[in-house]
Parts: sequence; C-alpha cells; structure tokens
Amino acid sequence: MFDISNISIEKISESKITQTDFDNLTFGRVFSDHMFVADYKDGEWTSPRIVPYQKLAISPANATLHYAQSIFEGLKAYKDQNGNALIFRPEANWARMNESAKRMCMPEIPEEIFMHGLEELIKLDKNWIPNQPGYSLYIRPFMFATDEYVGIRPSDTYKFIIFTCPVSKYYAKPVRVKVETKFTRAFAGGTGYAKAAGNYGAALYPARQAQNMGYDQLIWTDGLSHSKIEESGTMNVMFIINDTLITAPTDTGTILKGITRDSVLTLARDKGLKVEERSLTVEELYQALENGTLKEAFGTGTAATIANIELINLRDKDYTLPTPTDSYFSKQVYKTLDQIKTGQIPDKFDWIKTI
Ligand SMILES: Cc1ncc(COP(=O)(O)O)c(C=O)c1O
Repeated sequence: MFDISNISIEKISESKITQTDFDNLTFGRVFSDHMFVADYKDGEWTSPRIVPYQKLAISPANATLHYAQSIFEGLKAYKDQNGNALIFRPEANWARMNESAKRMCMPEIPEEIFMHGLEELIKLDKNWIPNQPGYSLYIRPFMFATDEYVGIRPSDTYKFIIFTCPVSKYYAKPVRVKVETKFTRAFAGGTGYAKAAGNYGAALYPARQAQNMGYDQLIWTDGLSHSKIEESGTMNVMFIINDTLITAPTDTGTILKGITRDSVLTLARDKGLKVEERSLTVEELYQALENGTLKEAFGTGTAATIANIELINLRDKDYTLPTPTDSYFSKQVYKTLDQIKTGQIPDKFDWIKTI
C-alpha cells in the first residue's frame, strides 16, 4: 500500500533557473527543475518520488502510443505578496482527473498521492513561479499506460507524472474564432467530457484548417445536428446576450467541465448576473450577432484564463465584437479571479491551497 511518508526526493545537481529568461516565456516550452512520478503495477500505486525533470524511456510497443490510454490535467500556481505559493482549486483537478480515468479504463489516482506529490513538487520548485502580473506556474499532471503489449485491452501498468512550466499568457491578444458546423469534437456517449489526449489529437485537423483561414480557434457545435454551441478547443465559451450570461450545459457528456467555467459562473451569480446554463443555438447566436444583442463573448480556461473573443466567423461571415471596456463583465471577472488567485482579496469560496 502507498505510504505517504515514503516519498523520495532526488534534487537536481544544478538548477536551470538562472538560465531561464522569465521576461520572454513562451507557453509550454520552459520546464522547471523537478517532476513527481508514481507507478501503477500489480493493482496499486507505488514508488512516489520527485526526481529531476528528465526524458522517459519507453518501449516502441508502449500501449499509449498505439491506443491512446492517456489523460491529463492543467492547473496553475501563483505567488502572493508574501511569497507564498498559492494553487488554484487543485482538488477540482484531482476529481476531474479521476472522472477521465474512469472513462478511459485507467486506475484512479488517490487524493493523497495527487495532492502530496503536487505540494512537495511546488515546495521544491517554488522559485519557478513567476512574479510578473498575468504570469504563473502551469502545472501538468498526467497519466498514461505503460504496458509493452500490442493488442487492445486496458493496460495493467501506468505512470502518473506532474511537471510544471513557468508561463505567460496562452493567448497574447483577443481571439478570432470560427463556429465549426462540419467537423465534430465530441458526441453523446463519447469521451468529450474527459480530458483524454485523443480528444485533442482528433481536433487538430479541423482547427488547422480554421487557422489557415486566419482564425485562432474553433467553437465546436454538437456532433448530431451542428445546431448547438458547445465549447472551444482549450476553453469553455460564454456569451452575454442582452443582460444574460449563457454557456453550454455540461450534462450532455460532450463538454469539459471547466474549473474556470465553474469559477466564473460562481462569481457571476455572486454578482447578481443572470446566468443560463443551456444550449445556445447557432441560430440564436446568428440573430444576436445580426441584431447587436450579443454584448460579450469570451472563453474560460486555466491556460487561456479569460480570453476575449474579438471576432466570430459564423455562416461564412466575420462579425467583429466591440472592444471590452472596464465595465464589461469579462474584464471584471478576469480581475476578480486574478486577485483571488494571487491572494489580493479574500478567498471566500475556499478555492486556494496555500503551500
Ligand atoms: C476542451 C477544453 N474545454 C475547456 C477547458 C477549460 O477547462 P479549465 O477551466 O478547467 O482549464 C479546457 C482546458 O483545460 C479544455 O481543454
């Protein structure tokens, strides 16, 4: 059985931090000194350890490479004014990881391994949390099959790893999106609600086509009728039409239950904004764009934070949205979330884990 006191720590001989240009960070390209690793075999998690960030050796017959039993998470750590490390809603990521694990026929990760591994790793690499406003330490927990076996069945062995990256913003500027009504990201009964690696691989081709046309991202519609707005590639999407915030419901099983989505909805309700979690139809969005009742559109995600949508392509027409001012909800909620994450205002929803 896993023993929490048994976690071994092997420190890097020389930190890479002094060679890192914190003023010019590209998202996902710079990796901190250490990583947390645990192995699953014989029906249990074993050997939790922290080691220097390093390459992995795997067999060409590694089951993940062939059959995509691979899931991941994404969360962030920030620094408060006293230099404490603050992690935003890690329990929610742990719970969602286990939802993904169940769907992909993978073992669940016990809370104490996820949380203890995370805490020890952040303690050790705390200096990698950037200080600049809008910057953070992106945390990537993931799990993948490690059986050396060709044949389709769930793997008997797995690896769970957490590594971290100091990052700036994922989207440096407001995004231009295309409403996709031909290709499909997810369908009821599929894996859309899981953070399964295969979902992202399958979305690359349609997204690349949109990028070649000058758009940053797609807004996916439902796979059956392509008549309902779902989400974007790395973020949930929200619309304010007249005075109501509308976002897709998550009970369809086709949408990732975004933790930023939940946080934004909580703050919106707290502020007294009218919120509707319901399917917005493509036709409704079209009408709102045509008659000017669409006031705001933005994406929500850990990497993307609150990403303003400046342009929507729908039915082959580009609609430019007004530039948000300080009175816009998206601006206000970005600020409030940022203040909570960096400990500048009280954490009244109990979202922060202080290390
Ligand atoms: C498909 C998809 N939707 C939504 C999100 C936003 O989720 P969260 O706010 O938990 O980062 C993400 C990012 O993780 C995503 O990959």
